[in-house]
Amino acid sequence: MIKIAPSILAADFANLGQDIKRIDEAGCDYVHIDVMDGSFVPNISFGVPIIKSIREYTDKVFDVHLMIDEPSRYIRDFKEAGADIITVHAEACKHLHSTISLIKSYGLKAAVSLNPATSINALEYIIDELDMVLVMSVNPGFGGQKFIESSLHKISAIKDVICGRGLKCDIQVDGGISLDNVKKVVNAGANVIVAGSAIYNSEDISSTIKAFREVCEN
Ligand code: DX5
Ligand code: ZN
Repeated sequence: MIKIAPSILAADFANLGQDIKRIDEAGCDYVHIDVMDGSFVPNISFGVPIIKSIREYTDKVFDVHLMIDEPSRYIRDFKEAGADIITVHAEACKHLHSTISLIKSYGLKAAVSLNPATSINALEYIIDELDMVLVMSVNPGFGGQKFIESSLHKISAIKDVICGRGLKCDIQVDGGISLDNVKKVVNAGANVIVAGSAIYNSEDISSTIKAFREVCEN
């Protein structure tokens, strides 16, 4: 089953509650929430108080993508704000294994993200512990960038590892995903699709989410 995770980075922050209701009613699976600290990535988005305040607008899964240095410092805060899944970057954690254990100790799902230039070898000793791997198909920090083609090979290599080890681990892809390229990432093995600008900048959010599902599942 494919899961559609609109990124609210492309939403109207002055009407965030409303914009979350729109993707909820359109039948999204997750709300993808991009937290940026201006250090791990060259941009600042928003943090814990915003997540807390949007929690009441939907019951959908909060898929929190932390693009912050040493995220272990804030896992408890994000849990209390309403996160369901927490993704950390392999490149941002000194002690990745203990950070993943910490996320799981709160009863949350745990995921690791890899930047475009990071090898899948970074997953070797952690993938058995994960609920999801996030393959960045742009350099993290901004919405609206161009999809990096080498992500396709990375997704299929990770898929081979997951199948080879008999794991139950989702593969999420994030960055530059549109109705034109989403089929390629699904064919490569991704089953959780993040899309920001392709959804929020479209004329009709609801029909775009439905179109994503249709393209992915046919
Ligand atoms: C980028 C973020 C993405 C971003 C995707 O650092 O992690 O989630 O919002 O935006 P689009 O779909 O516009 O590339
Ligand atoms: Zn993201």
